[in-house]
Amino acid sequence: MTDHDKPIGVFDSGVGGLTVAHAIRRILPGESMIYFGDTAHLPYGDKSPESIIYYSKKITGFLLGKQCKAIVIACNTASSVGYEEISKYAGDQALIFNVIDPVTDYYHEFLAPKTVGVIGTKATIQSGAYEKKILAENPGVKVFSKATPLLVPMIEEGFIYDDISNAIIRAYLSDKPLDNVEALILGCTHYPIIKNQIRRFYNFDVEILDSASIVAGALKSRLEADGLLHSGRRGKDRFFVSDYTPYFKKIAGMFFDGSIELEKRDLWR
Ligand code: DGL
Repeated sequence: MTDHDKPIGVFDSGVGGLTVAHAIRRILPGESMIYFGDTAHLPYGDKSPESIIYYSKKITGFLLGKQCKAIVIACNTASSVGYEEISKYAGDQALIFNVIDPVTDYYHEFLAPKTVGVIGTKATIQSGAYEKKILAENPGVKVFSKATPLLVPMIEEGFIYDDISNAIIRAYLSDKPLDNVEALILGCTHYPIIKNQIRRFYNFDVEILDSASIVAGALKSRLEADGLLHSGRRGKDRFFVSDYTPYFKKIAGMFFDGSIELEKRDLWR
């Protein structure tokens, strides 16, 4: 296999990374993908940095074994606590992308309002990754970060557009000063699944930024620059999980038109 024929690896704790994988499919239609959802260890957001890094390295090793030319850490939690370690571990075997840098770069280039909210898992918010990056380039901005830990289990359980999800979203976002920001960064790859309800909460009046297409765009530019873009017919996408969950199959089917086959892999035995 020549380098540009190799697949792109994408991983997350669960269905969240599918939002990024879906954008990659749209923006890079010639690439084949290998997805890993670590459903056995979900949610990552409540785990210690050591555990998150341990899980992420195992998955990275698995994707390197599948000869991925690039690996997208499609999880803000793993990106915020483990990007350096994962990059070090992969060495020059694959390009490693996190989902935070492309979003903060985009923010500086195209938006930079004076007040921005960031919502994410406990681990992502505790790491301060977004806040540090935004303030380093734009010290005048006021960044309000808030952990919203119920959103991931809510989404993984399929509460997406109903009274339960509306009540939880309202409870988190009506907290001051998040109720009054000019832009909101969805610092978790699960959250684009409920983006419309978040928009509705703000009466469609607040810029809502998520990583999916921004990261896929950054990946495309880098593959182009490195001469690694695949042209011609792509191979079959593969979807691995560390545990079967009924909802994973359903949502993966929604993102990737109908029937996909899930393959179970226990990388920790
Ligand atoms: N989708 C993930 C993120 O972007 C992980 C959520 C979790 O497992 O807690 O942070």
